[in-house]
Amino acid sequence: MDYKQIVTAALSDALAGQLTRDEIASKLERPKTSDKGDMAFPTFTLAKLLHQAPQQIAQDLAEKLDKTSFEKVEVVGPYLNFFFDKGAYSAETLQTVLTAGADYGQNDDGQGGNVPIDMSSPNIAKPMSMGHLRSTVIGNSIAEILTKNGYHPIKDNHLGDWGTQFGKLITAYKLWGNEADVKADPINKLVEYYVRFHKEDVDKPELDDTAREWFRKLENGDEEAHELWQWFRDASLQEFNDVYEKLGVTFDTFNGEAFYNDKLEEVVQILKDKNLLVESQGAQVVDLSKYNLNPALILKSDGASLYITRDIATALYRDRTYHPAKNLYVVGSEQTYYFKQLKAVLQEMGVPSADDLEHIPFGLITVDGKKLSTRSGRIILLAKVLDESVKLAAEEINEKNPDLANKDEVAQQVGVGAIVFGDLKNERTNNIDFVLADQLKFEGETGPYVQYSHARAESILRKAGKVTITTDGNQISDPEAWDTIKTLADFPAMVKMACDEFEPSVIAKYAIRLAKTFNKYYAHSKILTEDAELPARLALVKAVSTVLKESLRLLGVQAPDEM
Ligand code: ARG
Repeated sequence: MDYKQIVTAALSDALAGQLTRDEIASKLERPKTSDKGDMAFPTFTLAKLLHQAPQQIAQDLAEKLDKTSFEKVEVVGPYLNFFFDKGAYSAETLQTVLTAGADYGQNDDGQGGNVPIDMSSPNIAKPMSMGHLRSTVIGNSIAEILTKNGYHPIKDNHLGDWGTQFGKLITAYKLWGNEADVKADPINKLVEYYVRFHKEDVDKPELDDTAREWFRKLENGDEEAHELWQWFRDASLQEFNDVYEKLGVTFDTFNGEAFYNDKLEEVVQILKDKNLLVESQGAQVVDLSKYNLNPALILKSDGASLYITRDIATALYRDRTYHPAKNLYVVGSEQTYYFKQLKAVLQEMGVPSADDLEHIPFGLITVDGKKLSTRSGRIILLAKVLDESVKLAAEEINEKNPDLANKDEVAQQVGVGAIVFGDLKNERTNNIDFVLADQLKFEGETGPYVQYSHARAESILRKAGKVTITTDGNQISDPEAWDTIKTLADFPAMVKMACDEFEPSVIAKYAIRLAKTFNKYYAHSKILTEDAELPARLALVKAVSTVLKESLRLLGVQAPDEM
């Protein structure tokens, strides 16, 4: 039952075509509290059109309106306030949720269209930073949200496993490296070499020449260079996989930048054939002045490829392999300009899916207000943050529920959930200053709070035991129950909005809202009292549990039944 549509239709008839249905729908508001009705129509904008006072318009409309679908319609000043038929609405909402279960909110908008999502994409031989956490969890959640909207996402981890930095790394390793050290602690050791390279090359510019030479060898398939590279890649990936396992995130492909190395020639050929390559100081560039963008550097003067060269090959590959309906890149907002250039080059080349290329930026993670970078050594190891969070969750559980059966498993779900939710509840373009202690708070607008609300609902259902759950027309008289039911009914619209805006925070904020209304209801009402409304109240609790769990799932957060 779509009340927005019902209200719109009733108003449209009463207005006899003076406003379109879309115009009416866009003006509808949701009153702050249920005592002012469930939907409100302001008449200010009609005043000009009808040359009447808004109050008068509201009065007239209320008289003309077909009110049979509503409990009542009230005029308050310039507003028409609609009160829904609570009994019918509650029964239908609960029925819909309980019948669909986890499928509640599923729609077919995407019609199975492929959507490659470029996500996570950390760089080999560097630790996965908090910035990569954002790409991983935002990308993962967008994939779940896309599936819920009928799309077929392809999670593509575009590993940074190619580029001139590997020349630097090999140079550094050959100068100062040691096999046993790297085996014992791969990423930390490799970072140490890399940082040292950048310190020393300030005074010894010849180091850069050596590095360039090693990268050239790597590109040309030199055996020693390739072996070192493969070793660095394998060792790094092993550490990344630890983090992915902790987060519960999987990928459909790990085709990193290196995968496209043998596909660069074709890119250059296409660019040449289309007369898009021009020489500039010995290098090959694509002029983008008609897009108001700086030229894109495609080949350096020594013929070496660049990040964008490999991205063009990647986009071409995805275009041919998936025929994408959308083409997403979940990458920090510091690369916004870069993705404008990439899109422009692809459009110039006439790649069919270029117009659908969508950069999904997100804000920076700072620590105590400072930017993180591998070079300066200011890095937070993601794995460490997750472990610490799990440890704190375990302490909390030991205190609150020492007899819980699967304590370790729940501590994992809560500790990791806290970090993931703590990220996703922020609008993604916001910058986040990361203060570990804040992310780990177990009350307020946090993941553990939503998880706890779900566990509380499950606990009520356990206590109720065999009582039948029914949605039979029985209206629940408690006004807090009514707010909870209306919030439940909002879920399908939130699923669509999150997809349209590629914005997991829509779901996270919704989950907080549902948990809050439910907890208010729980605080005010004795749910388990034996009376005629009990089966309907249990239906409501079951529906809340279902939708909270599904919301968390869309965010990549688990929902333990007990905690
Ligand atoms: N590895 C890059 C980085 O850490 C991100 C790659 C994003 N994806 C892409 N297709 N360019 O900055």
